[in-house]
Amino acid sequence: MNDFIAGLPKCELHLHIEGTLEPELKFDLARRNGIALPHATVEEARAAFTFDSLSTFLVGYYGSMDVLRTEPDFYDLASAYLTKAAAQNVRYAEIFFDPQAHTSRGVPFDVVIRGLRRAILDAERLNGIRAQLIMCFLRDFSAEYAMATLLESLPYREWIVGVGLDSDERGNPPVKFAKVFARARQEGYLLTMHCDVDQENSTEHIRQCLEVIGVDRIDHGVNALDDPALVEEIKRRGLGLTVCPVSNGFVTDGSKAEAIRRMLDLDLRVTINSDDPAYFRAYVAENLELVHRELDLPQDDLVRLERNAFEIAWLPRSVKHTYFAELDAYARER
Ligand code: ADE
Ligand code: ZN
Repeated sequence: MNDFIAGLPKCELHLHIEGTLEPELKFDLARRNGIALPHATVEEARAAFTFDSLSTFLVGYYGSMDVLRTEPDFYDLASAYLTKAAAQNVRYAEIFFDPQAHTSRGVPFDVVIRGLRRAILDAERLNGIRAQLIMCFLRDFSAEYAMATLLESLPYREWIVGVGLDSDERGNPPVKFAKVFARARQEGYLLTMHCDVDQENSTEHIRQCLEVIGVDRIDHGVNALDDPALVEEIKRRGLGLTVCPVSNGFVTDGSKAEAIRRMLDLDLRVTINSDDPAYFRAYVAENLELVHRELDLPQDDLVRLERNAFEIAWLPRSVKHTYFAELDAYARER
């Protein structure tokens, strides 16, 4: 089955580009930028970074980003991810980036986005993988800083398909950013938000995403299953959920594979994604393998998970159809 998963045409919708910073690249960039790192080797760096919750994970995650300084750094980061993803037959990716994790330490917005954009264009030309950017606001910063970032993004509007919300959810509900997301909608951005798993007030945050923000998608969102009214509304609106099983295993009490099974049975548009693959040591194929192992998922359901992802992707219908055709051909041949 792992061969089947390897060849399956894939769509990744929940991927933080900063979460693809492998320690090897981190060391290269530190050398290039003349930055001293606290660890002598890649192995030491990996061993020193331990975490058991979203908050403890985020501390090391932001710390590592200090090596990202120049446009070529962001280019190399995104190129490395897109090369790996293409090798796993990811055909299309929507990539989160966190501009405030960089502007807050003095790296200009345009340095970040120009590097990422150039990598996306080159990867499509060289590897045939297509990608779009989703700009995330950091929810533990103020709504004013998010609004300033939104305005700063407007000259690059054509390079960004939508906006999201990530970082530490505790005490930072969706409503804190209602005005920012309303303005983003006016500017033509599509909207998503993280509703991380097993947070304080998880179901209330999902409700706010639906009723106050009017999201087009929910990132994670597993706790919707705790409230039948939320399930009903998500189904009624046809919203997708971008679930990240290996990530769940690190920052909650398990992968939530059983919840994924329930979502499939409920006909929710659930998808499988990698979140921060360099940290969780699993790209999208390894996430699919985990779900397959834990649920004994048949091929049909693996195909269905990818069909869901292409279905909820922020792409024109005509483009989606080319991916559906690839998926159908692959399923037929196997
Ligand atoms: N930033 C990177 N990964 C994240 C996650 N899983 N949740 C919230 N913010 C994040
Ligand atoms: Zn995430």
